[in-house]
Amino acid sequence: MPQDPAPPPAKKFKPGSPLFRLNRKPGMLPPSKENTSVPVELQRKHLPIYQAREQLINQLRQLHSAVLIGETGSGKTTQIPQYLFEAGIGRQGLVAITQPRRVAAISLATRVSEEKRCQLGKLVGYTVRFEDVTSAETKLKFMTDGMLLREAIGDPLLQRYTVVILDEAHERTVHTDVLFGVVKAAQKKRREQNKFSLKVIIMSATMDVDLFSQYFNNAPVLYLEGRQHPIKIFYTKQPQTDYLQAALISLFQIHQEAPSSHDILVFLTGQEEIEAMARTCRDIAKHLPDSCGQMVVIPLYASLPHTQQLRVFHTAPKGCRKVILSTNIAETSITISGIKFVIDTGMVKAKRYNPDSGLEVLAVQRVSKAQAWQRTGRAGREDSGVCYRLYTEDQFDQFNNMTVPEIQRCNLASVMLQLLALRIPNVLTFDFMSKPSPEAVRAAIEQLDLLGAVERMDDQVTLTPMGKKMASFPLEPRFAKTILLSSQFHCTEEVLTIVSLLSVDSVLYNPPSRRDDVLSVRRKFISNEGDHMTLLNIYWAFRNVKGNKDWCRENFVNSRNMALVSEVRSQLRETCMKLGMAMESSRTDTANIRRCLAHGLFMNAAELQPDGSYYTLHTHQLVSIHPSSVLFQGKPAYVVFNELLHTSKCYMRDLCLVDPDWLHDAAPQYFRRKLRLLKS
Ligand code: CDP
Ligand code: MG
Repeated sequence: MPQDPAPPPAKKFKPGSPLFRLNRKPGMLPPSKENTSVPVELQRKHLPIYQAREQLINQLRQLHSAVLIGETGSGKTTQIPQYLFEAGIGRQGLVAITQPRRVAAISLATRVSEEKRCQLGKLVGYTVRFEDVTSAETKLKFMTDGMLLREAIGDPLLQRYTVVILDEAHERTVHTDVLFGVVKAAQKKRREQNKFSLKVIIMSATMDVDLFSQYFNNAPVLYLEGRQHPIKIFYTKQPQTDYLQAALISLFQIHQEAPSSHDILVFLTGQEEIEAMARTCRDIAKHLPDSCGQMVVIPLYASLPHTQQLRVFHTAPKGCRKVILSTNIAETSITISGIKFVIDTGMVKAKRYNPDSGLEVLAVQRVSKAQAWQRTGRAGREDSGVCYRLYTEDQFDQFNNMTVPEIQRCNLASVMLQLLALRIPNVLTFDFMSKPSPEAVRAAIEQLDLLGAVERMDDQVTLTPMGKKMASFPLEPRFAKTILLSSQFHCTEEVLTIVSLLSVDSVLYNPPSRRDDVLSVRRKFISNEGDHMTLLNIYWAFRNVKGNKDWCRENFVNSRNMALVSEVRSQLRETCMKLGMAMESSRTDTANIRRCLAHGLFMNAAELQPDGSYYTLHTHQLVSIHPSSVLFQGKPAYVVFNELLHTSKCYMRDLCLVDPDWLHDAAPQYFRRKLRLLKS
């Protein structure tokens, strides 16, 4: 297999009148639904990787490090850990398989435990933030990259593990990137100290193998022959100004021409966009002639309640086409059978960070070539497929080859705190595969300094006792700090609840078709002090009814995520107890809670201007209140917020009303400097 999957011959098409022609007769290809009656043992033997099993085992037995590349669906993630286990490789310890996303870690562990016919949590388990489904018997452990990094803080040599598989390496999440350095160092130290060796396997379907091989001391690259089914790729003739419109046109053209058993997967960027598109599709579908057949439109994004996410896996009724509108969650994390057509808008919502402005925003941007190939690959999992790219071939040529590593586009405060907790002697010279910019590193250390987490002496940066405590929470530094401060404000119980609520996917469910109902039932929880307080009210109400499912349904509360909040909360509470914190409740005195939030989130504060606009105090950036906030209609003078989202404007999300004096008390020097800056 070539290093870069070679693009199949492309045809041009133009959204608008004759969009494209399907060059086969409808019904020529058999319906491509997965045959679930085939026993898993047989399914395993039919995977492309099975042909290479013996050879792979022999090679992996000998190698210390290997880079393994093979098409999506060839069986890397589910089979390699089992092959190692079956061949007795690394049985003295555990095999860790990291995933960038928790949903992937959970679903893969579930699948592999089914294949091994064992109960999940026994031989095969998983660990994601706030959820550990492993036991003393566990040998194959699927986990998020963030969790392995946490474990490294306790033991930088990762001595429980004999093999670490860093999967989906091309995604270059900040945690995976740091792990590259951590496992490389652990490998070296274990060799030096004559401890048993650590095998490192880097895996992906699309990656710059040379870069990875070089970094891991010229590790051999193992290529897997994939049995990828041929996929036809079409580009647009002209660049599209409106990718949503182009997606709609393509979607309905396919719907009118292709057999109904051929499902369609459309890649979009986020929840609002997906829900709006779903509505439009259903509307249009209603008005099509009967000859067109039915379509069922299913949205897919991370914050969707789990039971609804599962709908994408259900087979559509006979004669009905399944159309899935998804974020990049379906790009690598989730595999859906039956997809024959992929429509790739070429856009994704991703984090971007500017160390000068200190601003980390979520923004809609172009995907990389690697991502585009992943998306395309989704059309050829079980049969030949077609991918419509809603951009021109010239535009595609301009895409970045690889996704810019997250470490080069995110706020590094969290990572720096973890590196310092790992006792890395000098974070500025850490062996990163791709170095973050010195400005970003400096900005992160500056932030940690403002939070009281680090001390600087000459060039040496070390953790303060406060910093050490902060690192013991699996949270962003500012939230860890907020919790640690809460005892001072006698509101630890409430702050724990708020931070837990913010640590899971949304606990609120907002079906757009029932907007008015949502608004009317939510009214009773709304606090004019902001979103944190509103969430707290909802949590209290949830506790009062003991998590009653009907209550959740009536109040559009995601009961699964709410249950997770309680779980998260008790874990965070345990950490607080270990640190000897007093567990007090401020009860109805919400001012104390807000004061505490102001002290933890002071770097995310904004001020109302005479003209009604808002500017952040940190970098004097124009921002607006997000329409989803309960403060959207109001004009509070000062607020702190959780995050910024950049769409048509720069929006603050999750706001809390604060007093300017509190901000000043939180960081007097910082605000003196800011105020001077703002006046000049
Ligand atoms: O890692 P890679 O993309 O090479 O493939 P994999 O994740 O090991 O999946 C191999 C095959 O296992 C897929 O094509 C699916 O047929 C099946 N699978 C599944 O049915 N359910 C999962 N959660 C994961 C994999
Ligand atoms: Mg995989």
